[in-house]
Amino acid sequence: MLEENQQPMTENAIELSGVTKIFGGAKPVRALDDVALTVGKGQFVAIVGPSGCGKSTILNLVAGFEKATSGTVLVDGAPVGGPGPDRAVVFQEAALFPWLSVWENTVFSPKARGRPEREYKDKAKQFLSRVGLSEFHDHLPAQLSGGMKQRVGLARTLVMEPQLFLMDEPFGALDAQTRIDMQELLLSVWDELRRTVVFITHDVDEAILLADVVLVMSARPGRIRSRVPIDLPRPRSIDLITDPVFVALKREIFNQIRHEANIARLAAD
Ligand SMILES: Nc1ncnc2c1ncn2[C@@H]1O[C@H](COP(=O)(O)OP(=O)(O)O)[C@@H](O)[C@H]1O
Ligand SMILES: [Mg+2]
Repeated sequence: MLEENQQPMTENAIELSGVTKIFGGAKPVRALDDVALTVGKGQFVAIVGPSGCGKSTILNLVAGFEKATSGTVLVDGAPVGGPGPDRAVVFQEAALFPWLSVWENTVFSPKARGRPEREYKDKAKQFLSRVGLSEFHDHLPAQLSGGMKQRVGLARTLVMEPQLFLMDEPFGALDAQTRIDMQELLLSVWDELRRTVVFITHDVDEAILLADVVLVMSARPGRIRSRVPIDLPRPRSIDLITDPVFVALKREIFNQIRHEANIARLAAD
């Protein structure tokens, strides 16, 4: 530990060390066990692992929705006390207000905080245009497809200008083509903004395509099993998935996940 502290200060957006999470109840579940991970400022980190291994739990700890049973969770060097506007969470379903228009949903956060419209109007317009929805300004969520709703969700999150994007399988409910469109949109937005992203997915292709680093988790109780750097050049596009380097990374990560899934199965026998 001491040696670690003596290293030059690195700018970490997120640091977890010795994090254990036990969900109480009649049958307590040890969801995370001694998890350590760091995410650098401006880094795009994807987390993959077998279902139930604690991926969402990690995200919820960083978001401040849950508290660790033991260990430390730091964001920008400070312990997480609860949710905050510096951390935006994007879920599988964009939680849009059904009675508000695309525009009103997009500007919801600054408006709710009483910010004057001139502060966010141009920015919100730009982001809405960026996600291809300018023409749907006055539509209600019920008039939009699933992919369009997720794009409104993304625009709304961008308007908040958070330091950290915490994304929990955000494209998991979309059809294959829409999912690819969203991945390419996120890639190009991220290339412009370079914000810190933690992106949870069970789709290995998606993880490699988007991330700088893929963290592979072990079966429950979850730990970080390995850290796989994705040294593929940017800007990236979906064409990358046939690149031999991509395919080799995919094979490596798949083997690790398969190994973990076998462990989980043996433990259940
Ligand atoms: N609020 C909760 N109460 C009790 N158990 C929970 C709760 N949230 C998650 N768990 C359990 O913790 C484990 C990890 O869950 P989760 O983080 O959602 O996994 P993942 O996102 O990797 O599929 C699972 O066994 C799950 O059932
Ligand atoms: Mg989950």
